[in-house]
Amino acid sequence: MSCETLQFNIFGMKGKIKEIEEEIKKEGLSNLKELEDFRIKYLGSKGKIKGLFGWLKEVKNEEKKEAGQLMNALRKMAQDKFDMSKETLNSSSEDENKIDLSRPSDQIEIGARHPLSLVRSEIIEIFNRVGFTVSEGPEIEDDWHNFSALNFPPEHPARDMQDTFFIEKGEKEMALRTHTSSVQVRVMEGQKPPLRTISPGRVYRNEAISARAHCFFHQVEGLYIDKDVSFADLKQTLLYFAKEIFGEKAKIRLRPSYFPFTEPSAEVDVSCTICNSKGCNVCKYTGWLEILGCGMVDPNVLEASGIDSKIYSGFAFGMGVERIAQLKYKVNDLRLYSENDVRFLKQFKAGI
Ligand code: DAH
Repeated sequence: MSCETLQFNIFGMKGKIKEIEEEIKKEGLSNLKELEDFRIKYLGSKGKIKGLFGWLKEVKNEEKKEAGQLMNALRKMAQDKFDMSKETLNSSSEDENKIDLSRPSDQIEIGARHPLSLVRSEIIEIFNRVGFTVSEGPEIEDDWHNFSALNFPPEHPARDMQDTFFIEKGEKEMALRTHTSSVQVRVMEGQKPPLRTISPGRVYRNEAISARAHCFFHQVEGLYIDKDVSFADLKQTLLYFAKEIFGEKAKIRLRPSYFPFTEPSAEVDVSCTICNSKGCNVCKYTGWLEILGCGMVDPNVLEASGIDSKIYSGFAFGMGVERIAQLKYKVNDLRLYSENDVRFLKQFKAGI
């Protein structure tokens, strides 16, 4: 603003005030830098409004009062705009840095244990209580531990490509173990009786995947070797297990069967937990559900693992973990266990 252009009558002054007023209204103050520029431009000691006041003395005396009032109003308007913008800018920059400790936190999703893992742990605990330890063996097995030492004859169909995944390992042909009975052999080879152990683990079979069959699943093997172990000991151990896992009312029955590594052998059924033995489509209206295979360890197996069958006898059993989980949780499709669909897994939260 230069003094030459100013007209020092009230009309000229009013025009100038109006002009500055419009200018102020248009100023957009969106950050602290713009705010400071605004302060210097209008409110500073060399600013436009101060400049106007400087010219007041030039205004005629009778018009001074009105001109002063108009200028004061303009200054107030600029000051108000400055103050308000400062407050909003300060509070929004504070918001960015401020952490509101009183705000409720986001919900943390707690994971769930896999149902097979829950059942596996429960089986281990039940057998631990009656003195069984846990032993493990490799999933890639040789023929000896998976078949030969367990008394499988060379022409047994389980050795067939259709049932077993064979793999080359160097010179040696190996297999993905088809059952956890292989761990029995390793335990008997490595330790002296008395032996009381269970072996949980994953097993593999060359099967097409469906609701009822899978190419991998889980088993728990049991082995008890001592002097004078009888079939009655086996039956009592399995009855104890059935009651612990399915409840006090559970009953078992043993049906004669055949396995190369046990003699005599049996399959064990538990009274149907779903219909209380009244008959339903799960137990196929028999009131019984098959849960495991068992028997007295064949003397050939004891001898193959270096245990004197004239001094020692023992029993063994093997069960599918998926089968037990199916009966406990009423899951009717084996594929659900390995698909890892969180909607399925979340349902087992209670077991954490
Ligand atoms: N290994 C058998 C299977 O995979 C299960 C089994 C049956 C294990 C009888 C045993 C047994 O120890 O005595 O089907």
